[in-house]
Amino acid sequence: MKPSAPNRLPPPDDATLSQLLAAARAASPRAYAPYSRFRVGAAVLADDGRVFTSANIENASYGLTSCAERNAVFAAVFAGVRRVVAVAIHTPTAAPVSPCGACRQVIFEFGPDAVVASCCDGDDQQRRTIGELLPDAFGPQDL
Ligand code: THU
Repeated sequence: MKPSAPNRLPPPDDATLSQLLAAARAASPRAYAPYSRFRVGAAVLADDGRVFTSANIENASYGLTSCAERNAVFAAVFAGVRRVVAVAIHTPTAAPVSPCGACRQVIFEFGPDAVVASCCDGDDQQRRTIGELLPDAFGPQDL
């Protein structure tokens, strides 16, 4: 069944995004990343105001690794969320980075106008919409 087109949501304000970035940063030490030692934290803001955090979880079978962003979105969805307003990411890098392609696709499924904010160990931050990160996305509207 084709889901109805979602209403556009207003973007979160700066204070809300700062809190979300802080939650992502706090989540990163809880990653299970013994192979890459690259601990990523993510925080998802749902349309009902709830925040869900997670981190990357690796596996000895490397390809089974699950990124922080997807883990956080899936935690939200399992808790009943169907609309994501924003995703924040913290990476242990000098400059902010963007989510991988697979995570962009998963974010788009539940947040077609989500804001994706990134912070890092340096002072810089990055803010994008999922539409900027994944233009012309394939999604529920195409089925
Ligand atoms: N990783 C994430 O969790 N999110 C990203 O956006 C990029 C990569 C993880 C996967 C793997 O555990 C480690 O970072 C190195 O790629």
